[in-house]
Amino acid sequence: MTHQIRQHALCGNGFGGYGRFDMYDFAPAANASKADIYRELLSAADAITADERDAVANMANVAALLGEFLADCNWTGFYRAVGGELVLGPFVGRPACIRIGMGVGVCGTAAASGKSQLVADVHAFPGHIACDALTLSELVVPVKRDGKVIAVIDLDSPDLARFDAQDQAGIEALANLLSDRI
Ligand code: SME
Repeated sequence: MTHQIRQHALCGNGFGGYGRFDMYDFAPAANASKADIYRELLSAADAITADERDAVANMANVAALLGEFLADCNWTGFYRAVGGELVLGPFVGRPACIRIGMGVGVCGTAAASGKSQLVADVHAFPGHIACDALTLSELVVPVKRDGKVIAVIDLDSPDLARFDAQDQAGIEALANLLSDRI
């Protein structure tokens, strides 16, 4: 186990249990394989969201976990499906586009199709929205509840082809876990 939850007297867990779950030390082992990283990421995301009902709090912590666990990413976070478009959610990275139309860019394509988008070179993706000129590759995975897309998880990297099928499977497992937690 590479993560632990330590006690701290100043934070609460959302159920009045102040001092029970507060300080989080999550980090992948230095020599961890990609399979290990996703196993640990899923376990940490499960632990940190299991007892909290606030969607923003859960997305914020998961965005931070993604940023800590996944090397070579310049943006990790969420867009939420709100009123027929995508609206920026919690993330780690530089300020980003706030609203994205369904079917537009990589995120909008993932949301409209309900299918993950694994993009090795964003400049080859028609309609890619360049929030950060440094981004070269991207993985976007829809989060669904009762078959409907409620959000997407967006990962950006300054490296070409940073993400592969193993990353996609890992983030799809995370999206599945978050289905009723965000
Ligand atoms: N590149 C995305 C937009 C979101 S930012 O990368 C954070 C897209 O084309 O949908």
